[in-house]
Amino acid sequence: MHPIVERAGTRAKLPKWARCSDSRRAHGVRVGDLLADWARVLGRPKAERIRWRAAGVLHDALKDAPNSELRKLAGDTWPRPVAHAPACAERLSAEGVKDASLLEAIRYHPVGHPDLDELGEYLILADYLEPGRKGSSRERSELRDLLPDERDAVLTVVVHRRLERLLARRRPLMACSVDLWNRLMGR
Ligand SMILES: [Fe+2]
Ligand SMILES: [Fe+2]
Repeated sequence: MHPIVERAGTRAKLPKWARCSDSRRAHGVRVGDLLADWARVLGRPKAERIRWRAAGVLHDALKDAPNSELRKLAGDTWPRPVAHAPACAERLSAEGVKDASLLEAIRYHPVGHPDLDELGEYLILADYLEPGRKGSSRERSELRDLLPDERDAVLTVVVHRRLERLLARRRPLMACSVDLWNRLMGR
């Protein structure tokens, strides 16, 4: 296991190049703790629990990076509010992290992708449902109570909420987000 992943997954440590506020770090730790808990309930071995926690701790590591840094890492095809995700995946890859499942989970966490594996799907869920998020906390806790068992059902609710929000604000949808929705509907 790469040392960045190991440190994030065991001690909730972010690499030096992380650019995020204290409250964002705390959000990452809560997401990681939720993922580790689900991995435990699902009976996954220790190494998996560490990987899952690392995905949560690291997912927003570049959320507060300047635009220029995000563009350099992620290119200019990603909308600004979600560019921190591919930027973080690219940076981790440049640092030598070769865990494709973890990299893709981080790359697509704000938008979704139809080819995500279970770690990618659970990261979307944990990011949306972690207990520190403001607003509709009762609904979030009810959805959390259904996990990790009801992954497809809860993911459908969460992806629906996200798409609804973007449509209500008349924002563009990324094709991979729509493809994930279509896959969920075709299941
Ligand atoms: Fe994010
Ligand atoms: Fe997040």
